[in-house]
Amino acid sequence: MKVAYAQMEPLLLEPEKNYSGAERLVKEAAEKGAKLVVLPELFDTGYNFENKEEVESVAGQIPDGPTTEFLIELARSLDVFIVAGTAEKDERGGLYNSAVMVGPRGYIGKYRKIHLFYREKLFFQPGNLGFHVFNIGIAKVGVMICFDWFFPESARTLALKGAEIIAHPSNLVMPYAPRAMPIRALENRVYTITANRIGEERGLRFIGKSTIASPKAEVLAMGSEDSEEVGVVEINLEVAREKRINEMNDVFKDRRPEHYII
Ligand code: ACM
Repeated sequence: MKVAYAQMEPLLLEPEKNYSGAERLVKEAAEKGAKLVVLPELFDTGYNFENKEEVESVAGQIPDGPTTEFLIELARSLDVFIVAGTAEKDERGGLYNSAVMVGPRGYIGKYRKIHLFYREKLFFQPGNLGFHVFNIGIAKVGVMICFDWFFPESARTLALKGAEIIAHPSNLVMPYAPRAMPIRALENRVYTITANRIGEERGLRFIGKSTIASPKAEVLAMGSEDSEEVGVVEINLEVAREKRINEMNDVFKDRRPEHYII
């Protein structure tokens, strides 16, 4: 099975232009054989908002909003699954930094970012849906967003819930995740797909370097720091299903939660 990140440069407050940019990249990934494509965090709206009104002006409902509708149509036409970060406005006006998963047969589900980073706390409510793993038939895919990586409990929870792949839409500004994500993959024996963005918004620079890591901590693909591009790799889910490290150790069965502080 082939999976991909689509590393792009979303334009702030320009959803229609961002749909076009995403469409071009997801199409390229699909043409290269990817069945699952991950887009960055807030791919539709950009990131560095000045105030809540700006977020409100571009956020939409999930699934009954324009971004989910656009993604559903794209997934249908290309016969792929897509995980994409988007600004969500719920029925009561609550704003979330969310990710949506869609496939060839339509809407599958959503995740709301649990660990909000820095000024995101001024605009968004923290996620209230928990960490979720979507069984899409060809794989079990867990979703977390950007800064969630900093809390190893996020990836661990998804792995314990059965994720074989962690889809990780991101807008990274700190330099650490490309080095840390292979370790998240290793300690949980999962594949990770970090789809980051590039460019600069109002003085905030994003680091690119989207990363696909294997359960053995291999970096299977890494993006540049400054180009829109896709990374497409072949993965073997059997490797992610094998939680034994040797005949006597198993990363799940050897856990000793009675000694851990939660
Ligand atoms: C981040 O969570 N966007 C750094």
